[in-house]
Amino acid sequence: MMAYFHKHLGVKLFLSYFAVILIGAIALIATTRFTTQTAFNRHLGTVEQISHSGNMAGQQGSKSIEETGEQRIAFRENLYTQFQDSFREAISWSALTAGITALTLSLYLSKLVIIPVRAMTSASRRISEGHYDERVQDQGEDELGQLAHSFNQMAEKLETVEEMRRQLIGDVAHELRTPLTTIKGSVEALEDGVLPASAETYTQILHEAERLNHLVDDLQELSRVEAGAYEMNLSSTEIASVIETIQKRFGYQFEEKGISFKKNLQPNLPSIQADEPRIVQILTNLLTNALSYTPKGGEIKLEATLVENAVQISVKDNGVGIPPEHLAHIFTRFYRVDKSRSRHAGGSGIGLTITKHLVEAHGGRIWVESDGEGLGSTFILRLPSEG
Ligand SMILES: Nc1ncnc2c1ncn2[C@@H]1O[C@H](COP(=O)(O)OP(=O)(O)O)[C@@H](O)[C@H]1O
Ligand SMILES: [Mg+2]
Repeated sequence: MMAYFHKHLGVKLFLSYFAVILIGAIALIATTRFTTQTAFNRHLGTVEQISHSGNMAGQQGSKSIEETGEQRIAFRENLYTQFQDSFREAISWSALTAGITALTLSLYLSKLVIIPVRAMTSASRRISEGHYDERVQDQGEDELGQLAHSFNQMAEKLETVEEMRRQLIGDVAHELRTPLTTIKGSVEALEDGVLPASAETYTQILHEAERLNHLVDDLQELSRVEAGAYEMNLSSTEIASVIETIQKRFGYQFEEKGISFKKNLQPNLPSIQADEPRIVQILTNLLTNALSYTPKGGEIKLEATLVENAVQISVKDNGVGIPPEHLAHIFTRFYRVDKSRSRHAGGSGIGLTITKHLVEAHGGRIWVESDGEGLGSTFILRLPSEG
């Protein structure tokens, strides 16, 4: 009962009105009890005097019987008027007391509703002015409490989004600055004749411009996947055939870098519901990284097995590895273990963030394992199988 009362604003309001009426009535009755006596004494005391003087007259025997009858009528009228007056007086005092009590109680009860609403109004105003850390006090369990709770959740979300936005702008500015500074420096040096106007210089400038281009493409893709603003065309997909396609695409690069590629697929793997080009994109990102972070003569192994109703794909290399303190951050955008090495490889630190989003969009998950620096890395992803 009390729990129900606490959880419903409607019940609270209803009971508040009821309490105001009830307490008003109680105050009325209680006050009437005290005021009636006084009023009675004061008003009906005069009647007593009149009747007393009437009796005195009767005793003297100088008045007729008629006169005594008239006196009785007058006495009754007087009694009635005095009674009416005493009743009115008593009820007026009682009504005043009851009114004040009801007013005080109503004020108090309406404050209970108004205070949290006012708090939320001023908090939302502060938030709209950019103070995203503004929160309202926890208000209990009724609808107002729930509203306050949702309000705080919304404020928290806004704060996170704002923080992410700020961080993103900072990161992007930082990422753009390096290639832009290099291009600007090179062109100035060309102008001053410090750098020779050779093919090499132009290639270097072009290379930086391409890096910028690549970064902008990555950012565009990142914003699309983060906003979920892309279509997923799910269809029954055979992982073995996707891996075949990927292997063909990377064959030349493996050979060129002198890296041996091994493939190990469990036979009769179930198909998965997936957007095939997206799965290709995921594996391309992982293999590009494996290629970038594995030195000449290394080895990359691609495995696919069935684990707990999911197809598990792992991309294992024996390259530079990832120190344990970096493992938790590797999927964060712009995060790179070795910035200069990654930059040299044309990386912006966005690839894995996009990859993670795409895996999760398929209802799967991805994680990384590495024994440490120089000991290779393994990226593992699981995608739920069909049926
Ligand atoms: N196979 C790998 N071996 C070692 N480090 C890796 C590997 N794959 C990714 N990393 C680390 O994770 C970081 C983020 O990867 P990614 O998001 O693809 O960005 P990018 O490749 O553009 O630097 C890389 O900079 C690198 O430090
Ligand atoms: Mg990458």
